[in-house]
Amino acid sequence: MTRPPTALRSRLPELAHTVHLAACSISPRSLDLDNALATMLDDLARPGFWTACEEKVLQARQRFAALIGADVDQIAVVPNVRSAAHQAISGRRWRWKRTLLSSTAEFPGVAHAWLAAQQRGARVHWCGTDTGEVTTADYLHGITSRTALVSVPAVTYRDGIRLDVARIAEAAHAAGANVFVDDYQAAGVLPVNVDAMGCDYLAGGTGKYLLGLPGMAFLYVRHPCRQPASTLTGWLGRVHPSTISPDFPPHASRLGTGTPAAAAAYAAVAGMSLIADLDLDAVRQQTQRLLTHATDRLEQMGETVRVPAEPDERGAHLALMEPHAENLGTWLGRRGITVAPRGNVVRIAVHAYSTVDDINALCEAIGTYRTRFTPRAHAGDCDDQS
Ligand SMILES: Cc1ncc(COP(=O)(O)O)c(C=O)c1O
Repeated sequence: MTRPPTALRSRLPELAHTVHLAACSISPRSLDLDNALATMLDDLARPGFWTACEEKVLQARQRFAALIGADVDQIAVVPNVRSAAHQAISGRRWRWKRTLLSSTAEFPGVAHAWLAAQQRGARVHWCGTDTGEVTTADYLHGITSRTALVSVPAVTYRDGIRLDVARIAEAAHAAGANVFVDDYQAAGVLPVNVDAMGCDYLAGGTGKYLLGLPGMAFLYVRHPCRQPASTLTGWLGRVHPSTISPDFPPHASRLGTGTPAAAAAYAAVAGMSLIADLDLDAVRQQTQRLLTHATDRLEQMGETVRVPAEPDERGAHLALMEPHAENLGTWLGRRGITVAPRGNVVRIAVHAYSTVDDINALCEAIGTYRTRFTPRAHAGDCDDQS
C-alpha cells in the first residue's frame, strides 16, 4: 500500500517549524535518516561492519533498480554522478562516429566528464542557448550520423525543465547513438522508467529527492556485459575482489571501484524506503499544483520566474530570477526557509512533503525581503537591520 504524500511529513519532524524547499540541492533530515546513521554507528561498534555495509550497498542497488524499472545487475554503485558519466564512456573508442551531443543546460560536473573525453578523441557538441536554456527540439536537431552518445538531463538542474527523453532516445537510436540520462533532478520525485525512456545509461544520486545523503550515486547500464572495461577500476569492480585478478563480472558491478561511503549507503536505503512508499504519479500531480501556485503568487508579486508553461515540461523546481541569489537564500535560511540559490537564480523545489502553506510562507518572506532591500542589493545586504 502506498503512503499518502503528506504522511511523509510525519517522518520529517523539522518541518513542524521550518520550510524545506531545496530538495533539488539537498534532502531534508528525516527520522529514518537519523535512525539509519545511529544503526551505522552501532554496527561500527560490532564485529562484521563490512558485511553489514555490503548488505546496505546491495539493498541500495536493489531499491534504485526497483525505482527506475531496472534489474539489480544493471546497477553499479559510484561515488557521484560525475563518476557515473566517466564510467559510462571510459572504455569507449571514438572513431569516425565520435560526436558526443550534450547541452548548455548540462550539470557542470557531467559536462566536465564529457570535456575530458575530448582528450581521448570525442568531439563534444553543445546544443541550447549560451545562457543555458535547452529544449527537446534542440536535441533532435543536434543529432547527426556522427553522433555516438547523447547526454540528456531528465530535468535541468537550474531551470527545472523536463526534457522528452523518450523522443530524444528514439532519434538517437535511429542515428545509431547511445543515450546517457542524468536523472539526479528526477529520481525520487518523478516516475522514472528506463524502458519507457529508452536510455542506455542513467545516473542518479542519493542526496536530493531520494532523501538520503550525498556520497553515493548509481549508474544504470542497459547491456552491462557489452560494456568495455573502464580505466577507473578497483577491487569492487572485479569478480574476485580479494585477489589481483583481471576478470570483470558480466553485470554492472564491473564499473564499481573502491570502498563505498558507508554513511551514504545506510542513508540511501533509509531515504529510498520512504520513496518506495509513495505513489510517484500522485506526487507529480501534487508538485505540479504547488509549482503552479508558487508561480502565480510570485508573478503577482512582480517576481520573474523561469518555469515551463506546460506542466509536462516541468520537473519539481522552479527558478526565481535574483541577481543576488545567495543573499536572498541566506536571509530566508535565517527565517527557517531553506531554498537552493545557484548563480542568478533561487531554486524552489517541492516534494511529496511540501504544502501550500510552505509556498505561502515563502512568498510572504520574499515580500518582506523586497520591502527591506532594493534590487540593487549587494553582498552583505542580507544582514537585516530591522
Ligand atoms: C542534474 C545534476 N546532476 C548531477 C549533480 C551532482 O553531480 P555529482 O554527483 O557529480 O556531484 C547535480 C547536483 O548537484 C545535478 O543537479
